[in-house]
Amino acid sequence: MDVPAPKMYRLVIILALPLCASCLDNGLMLTPPMGWLAWERFRCDIDCENDPNNCISEKLFMDMADRLSEDGWRDLGYVYVNIDDCWSSKQRDKDGRLQADPKRFPGGIKKLAQYLHERGLKLGIYGDMGTYTCGGYPGSPLDKIELDAQTFADWEVDMFKYDGCYSNATEQEQGYPLMSKALNATGRPIGYSCSWPAYQGGLPPKVNYTQLGEICNLWRNYGDIQDSWSSVWSIVDWFFENQDALIPAAGPGRWNDPDMLIIGDFGLSMEQSRSQMALWAIMAAPLFMSNDLRTLSSGARVILQNKMIISINQDPLGIQGRRILKEKSGIQIFWRPLSKNTSALLFFSHRTDMPYRYKTSLSKLNYTAGSYKVTDVYTYKTLELKDSTEFVVSVNPTGVVMWHISAPAKLNSRLYFRGAQAAASGRDVGNDIPVLL
Ligand SMILES: *[C@@H]1O[C@H](CO)[C@@H](O)[C@H](O)[C@H]1NC(C)=O
Ligand SMILES: *[C@@H]1O[C@H](CO)[C@@H](O)[C@H](O)[C@H]1NC(C)=O
Ligand SMILES: *[C@@H]1O[C@H](CO)[C@@H](O)[C@H](O)[C@H]1NC(C)=O
Ligand SMILES: *[C@@H]1O[C@H](CO)[C@@H](O)[C@H](O)[C@H]1NC(C)=O
Ligand SMILES: *[C@@H]1O[C@H](CO)[C@@H](O)[C@H](O)[C@H]1NC(C)=O
Repeated sequence: MDVPAPKMYRLVIILALPLCASCLDNGLMLTPPMGWLAWERFRCDIDCENDPNNCISEKLFMDMADRLSEDGWRDLGYVYVNIDDCWSSKQRDKDGRLQADPKRFPGGIKKLAQYLHERGLKLGIYGDMGTYTCGGYPGSPLDKIELDAQTFADWEVDMFKYDGCYSNATEQEQGYPLMSKALNATGRPIGYSCSWPAYQGGLPPKVNYTQLGEICNLWRNYGDIQDSWSSVWSIVDWFFENQDALIPAAGPGRWNDPDMLIIGDFGLSMEQSRSQMALWAIMAAPLFMSNDLRTLSSGARVILQNKMIISINQDPLGIQGRRILKEKSGIQIFWRPLSKNTSALLFFSHRTDMPYRYKTSLSKLNYTAGSYKVTDVYTYKTLELKDSTEFVVSVNPTGVVMWHISAPAKLNSRLYFRGAQAAASGRDVGNDIPVLL
């Protein structure tokens, strides 16, 4: 214990420098943020008289906080509880400050933030760059930016999403950087989500992703997600069609945001739910669930709480994955490099007939020579695979097979026995498939 560890020190310093190169310097979100966000599932339901369980109110957010802290979510990293539009009063208060609707948030936002903090959670809130929010509530235009940033800090808010309705391009160009400065000036670290690129069409040259990385922690590039597979797929396809522009923008502290997880809602089958979770992990996407955690099915819970997929999503290198192959058969293959020379590989089927048996090998997918330990992240089955060994994966319609792949090892006879040893020692390693070598 008394021996200094210069090697460790060097490692930490070397890692710390490039970790947040040209990203917003608030020390936040070095891995994609995780939590819950009200919008997709609960929208602008303010009818608390007739729909008390589902209306945008402090009860809804406290209910979700209770579930996040008591049902294992927080400990997996889902810590943000984010309010979206329609939380405020239609009028600012006598001092010109934003205020929560007193009927729906009788305790006020600061009390709600404290309720969350006591449970190890964080509060996110929503505002808009224009004169009004998208839902018609008071916006935070240029002349209100400093006041509103200070109000959020006074309320002990931890994250802020800045939407863009009712503002024009000139105002956005001034407002998004200004809000970043104003949040910083409060002295409170507040994660900053910018909807700016979504209002600029999402692509260079209109969008300057270098600048965005310097002023925001995450940004919405594209349209809102809806509760359907066609919505999920249109987002996925747009992100990967434009991957060469988007991948370099992402990194620790700065993330592309393809929008919320809708797993546990009404629009996705179980296969499609697994696909959304896996694709969001490949994309290094923020994981904000928008669902009802009080009534979530156990199937949805198992997907959203999959530790291996979460750890792929949260990989510290923060490199966004890419689509490496689009086969005529409808099979698409996605790949994400991970730390420690490991990687994630995803087989997706765009087919509509039946499970498709896709045959390939790791060397065909440009993996270098060696033998690899492969773990199926949904079944936890493992196998040893030599790069040249042909294998078959069976991929269901609109479903995925997702693998975590170890660093390449030279062929080593000990590998043959690893699975057997682990099983014998009673550790939970799932069912080992017979070695294919
Ligand atoms: C504000 O910005 C400075 C300089 O980039 C940074 O060192 C500091 O941590 C930031 N503070 C907050 C609260 O974001
Ligand atoms: C944007 O809105 C401002 C008012 O806030 C106005 O002065 C300006 O002319 C508008 N710019 C464009 C390009 O529409
Ligand atoms: C994009 O933003 C960066 C950083 O703010 C800046 O240095 C660069 O000139 C901008 N690029 C363009 C094309 O405006
Ligand atoms: C493998 O590498 C070759 C040569 O760089 C490239 O043409 C091919 O597209 C790559 N295949 C995949 C699946 O990445
Ligand atoms: C990672 O693996 C590749 C082969 O896939 C190898 O060329 C490279 O040296 C490895 N890097 C490290 C840091 O182990």
